[in-house]
Amino acid sequence: MAVQISPSILSADFARLADEAAAVPTADWLHVDVMDNHFVPNLTLGLPVVEALRKATSIPLDCHLMIENPDRWAPPYAEAGAGSVTIHAEAAGAPVRTLRQIRSLGARAGLAFNPATAVEPYEDLLGEVDMLLLMTVEPGFGGQKFLDLVLPKIRRARDLIERHGGEVWLQVDGGVTAGTIERCAEAGADVFVAGSAVYGAGDPSAAVEALRALATAAAGPSGGRHDRH
Ligand code: DX5
Ligand code: ZN
Repeated sequence: MAVQISPSILSADFARLADEAAAVPTADWLHVDVMDNHFVPNLTLGLPVVEALRKATSIPLDCHLMIENPDRWAPPYAEAGAGSVTIHAEAAGAPVRTLRQIRSLGARAGLAFNPATAVEPYEDLLGEVDMLLLMTVEPGFGGQKFLDLVLPKIRRARDLIERHGGEVWLQVDGGVTAGTIERCAEAGADVFVAGSAVYGAGDPSAAVEALRALATAAAGPSGGRHDRH
């Protein structure tokens, strides 16, 4: 599938979110980091902001819930019109039920993994998800350094997805920049979150297109690493 870029508004100006969305017109998604100060040591925004942002932009919202008890709190994000709702494997008590609820409410369902969490134990859930999100930093803050130690997991996750039929998207989030995106694409990622690399740039729209070009070239004509062996 084609490379997709999901700029993270965590690095945008929270007082001007509508303008910040408009600044990335070619973005495939807007990545919305919801943090509750419990699952991660930071507090950002919640449902009222997502509801407002939904009305302020036509770019679909990619909601990444870094919160405890996503079984209770994730479905309302789908009801609020998010295009994609991602819960953390470490936080979900009943991931199958919650992922099914997200889908039944019309959103894509994502399952996220911290750097130290293995994907393999969740292989049987691949039919329940539309996207895997592999954190390439410890979640909680923008602007952190990319963790190369996650690259082998990206390759293993891509192989699992291919064995399963290849429909599931593979997102990377954290430290994705012009200096690291090619490694991620070559390893098999196809959806790229970038916060500081987009909103810290003088021209966020140009930054989105530069990242897209790098990832597309690194992925090759029809995808990532899996096409080359
Ligand atoms: C971190 C968030 C990321 C963050 C990425 O916990 O999940 O989405 O915005 O920011 P950068 O791209 O600056 O690492
Ligand atoms: Zn995120």
